[in-house]
Amino acid sequence: KREPHHPIFECYQYDGFWYHLASLESALCMQQNFKAQPCDIFVCSAPKSGTTWLKALTFSIITRHDDDITNNLLFTKVPHECIPFLEVDFLSNPKIIDMELPLLATHLPYSILPKSISSNNCKIIYICREPKDTFVSLWHFIHNIEAKSLKVPLLTFDQAFKWFCQGKSMYGSYWDHMLEYWKASIERPERVFFIKYEDLKEDTLGYVKKLADFMDKPFSKEEQERGVPQEIVARCNFKNLSNLEVNKSGKYTTAITKEISNNLFFRKGEIGDWKNYLTEEMAKYIDDITLQKFQSSGLTFP
Ligand code: A3P
Repeated sequence: KREPHHPIFECYQYDGFWYHLASLESALCMQQNFKAQPCDIFVCSAPKSGTTWLKALTFSIITRHDDDITNNLLFTKVPHECIPFLEVDFLSNPKIIDMELPLLATHLPYSILPKSISSNNCKIIYICREPKDTFVSLWHFIHNIEAKSLKVPLLTFDQAFKWFCQGKSMYGSYWDHMLEYWKASIERPERVFFIKYEDLKEDTLGYVKKLADFMDKPFSKEEQERGVPQEIVARCNFKNLSNLEVNKSGKYTTAITKEISNNLFFRKGEIGDWKNYLTEEMAKYIDDITLQKFQSSGLTFP
């Protein structure tokens, strides 16, 4: 089912979720053909829920024994180039499957992931974020991309809000996206690590250690004494990452989005920014959806 709900964000619905055509085609092609390796780890998320940050953290954890990689990659490339998106980069650059690093990312919903990910018991790290903040972040992202491509009419905040609440956002509904991974994390906690952006912000150091354990790369006593986990937290914090030259002025190109300025991945990085944009009524509307969708699932946001 296709809905041209916006010229540059034309979406196709498949099995309940909405996709950009190229990512849907790619997802369907990969479902049977992508051969995940048992040691592969997948960083999963819906857009604007903290993906860039989680990529930087997991990349730093896994490459921490090799300063060259960190210096050459994390400091000179946007985290999205360090850990490619499966569905975005697969068709344009099939070689990503040969990458030596066992880290890949995806925005795909759990139910459409390539079959080999679960048959090979691959590990998944999922990040999500409070829906009101995710929406506000998403709107800024879309709006800024649009502002750069003057050919299309700007999407209004109210229209974007309506579609988001109806589930018509890229890889949405956002609530169903979170629920699928949440359920998987309850069924297979040793395989699916579920993180909320808000919790990661509150205790980044604790989560960096948990992530390292989950990825089978625990910090040794000696590393802990040297403060390696603390270094990773500091290197990947918002201020530090957003101030890197590559993230201030670099560009990231994908088959789907064409060219994006890296600075669009770093806006404010704060909790509760929705208060500056949503009316009380809008906030209540989203909260009601969240309550209704998550009822009896055990998943909550403060
Ligand atoms: P805001 O728009 O609210 O600032 P994604 O990476 O999934 O696209 O999500 C982008 C959001 O994560 C943006 O939120 C961005 O500012 C925030 N972000 C990026 N890097 C971050 C970091 N190191 N720490 C905290 N938040 C970060």
